[in-house]
Amino acid sequence: MGESSGAGPAGTGTAGGDGRTGAATGTMTRRALLVGVGAAGGAGAMFAAMGALGLAPDAQDRAFAPPQGSDFSLQGRGAAKIVVLGAGVAGLTCAYELGKAGYDCTVLEASDRVGGRSLTLRGGDRLAELGGQTQTAGFGEGTYFNAGPGRIAPWMLTMDYCRELGVPLEVFVNNNASAYIYTRGMTAPVRARTARADMYGYVAELLAKAADAGALDRRLTGEDRERLLEFLRRFGDIGQDLAYRGSDRRGFTTYPGSAEGVPLAGPSSLAEVLSAGTGRAITMDFGVEQAMPMFQPVGGMDAIVTALARAVGEDRIVTGAPVTRITNLPDGVEVTHPGGVVRADYCVAALPPHLLARLPHNLGTEVTAALRTPVPVAAGKIGLEYGRRWWETEDRIYGGITETDLDITHIWYPSHGYHTRSGLIVGYYNTGAEAEVYGALPHRDRLRRALTQGKKIHGEKYRAELRSSVSVAWHRRPYVEGGWVRWPSHDGGFALLRRPAGRVYFAGDWLTRLVAWQAGAMESAREAVTAIHRRALAEPPT
Ligand code: PHE
Repeated sequence: MGESSGAGPAGTGTAGGDGRTGAATGTMTRRALLVGVGAAGGAGAMFAAMGALGLAPDAQDRAFAPPQGSDFSLQGRGAAKIVVLGAGVAGLTCAYELGKAGYDCTVLEASDRVGGRSLTLRGGDRLAELGGQTQTAGFGEGTYFNAGPGRIAPWMLTMDYCRELGVPLEVFVNNNASAYIYTRGMTAPVRARTARADMYGYVAELLAKAADAGALDRRLTGEDRERLLEFLRRFGDIGQDLAYRGSDRRGFTTYPGSAEGVPLAGPSSLAEVLSAGTGRAITMDFGVEQAMPMFQPVGGMDAIVTALARAVGEDRIVTGAPVTRITNLPDGVEVTHPGGVVRADYCVAALPPHLLARLPHNLGTEVTAALRTPVPVAAGKIGLEYGRRWWETEDRIYGGITETDLDITHIWYPSHGYHTRSGLIVGYYNTGAEAEVYGALPHRDRLRRALTQGKKIHGEKYRAELRSSVSVAWHRRPYVEGGWVRWPSHDGGFALLRRPAGRVYFAGDWLTRLVAWQAGAMESAREAVTAIHRRALAEPPT
């Protein structure tokens, strides 16, 4: 996926609250005002006041006012009943927030486990795919494979839920100068630090020489030019004559210690560096979603959905309950599944849109058409377990990602368990056409292909020392059928589905500008919860 188009961290999550600065200055804060309004007039009045203050959920600042149980008791009434479809991150977050306020939630989950795409596989776990293939993870004790989400950016709402739920986090190394870059045709991979030094070095040289020769004088004053040159010397580690001849930054064949280091031979010429095509690899983490530091839950990504499910209450979650029909009624909603019929005041449909589109429902043809608009994107990963952490002991790679132009695309090294006896690397993480190719193969052929590719980077041990493996093709997972979705356009259908269809609300990462992130699912859940709560309070008590 490309970089997000500027939807930044501002106002995201509980940390985006206001009132703090006001409190410091001693004036009445918006928060204090709202608490007063809320106590006097209940949440309905509070929402109105929030709207007036520009704080309503559809306002710019996206502050989240979680529903409170007291909103109902203040009105002398009970909370409504909600049926949530799907126990993925969006569905669980909805049930969690609504449950905190006393809503009576039932979550129907089609598969036999919660979490949706937030899937961590451990030894003994089974993984089924459409088409009949089932794998069983043969991992040893302590090994896990985040088959779905694997990294969290610090500005994302996911971090706030980890804090609230007490999910311990550790750093996920998303960028490692010691990891490799491999482009087809290379005899050996290059370290990211080498590729970076050379690209920055030559770019700095070109720009510095152009500026120095006066080629940029229409844009730069003399002072600007001196400042730019000063920066470019640092940026590229270029000489006084502005030429790039390589630098310590490229790395060493023998690193410095008690003796001087032996620098790597090189650099290659500008033409060779450009043709190595490393530009994509060294800019991988430039976007706001990928920049370090990033984080992961200790022990596996599923710690988040496990904590959410526990907070919701296991007794409220029905697994093995694929929805077969959704029926909007004038005063409620009815959902059928093989085990029975659930009747509720409102429904949150937190399923992938392409699966919702196939369900019998009475939400209208416009809704069906909108649900068919987002296109599922294939995505796949393979976890490779080794009995020896050779990437650390031999390659000195501790976490991070090797970038390739092979069909495996990336190799991820684990960001935890350094120097322990065994470990798991991700041998491919690909999307689109490449994921389709791997997904179409039986597991043993996916593995063979991934090992053939990885061997080009890491040598024979990559194949010879493998202990066990599991692969996932998300577009072939039952009740998921995609890594994520791509909206061809955000016109029409996107906006339609962000509104309720009768008493049915939709939620999921696919309804946000954070597609393919748990944070998107959580943001969307908060929107659905806020809209339901506002409506539940406005409706006459039943
Ligand atoms: N969130 C997923 C990941 O971390 C998919 C994704 C990649 C989404 C890049 C946006 C940008 O890989």
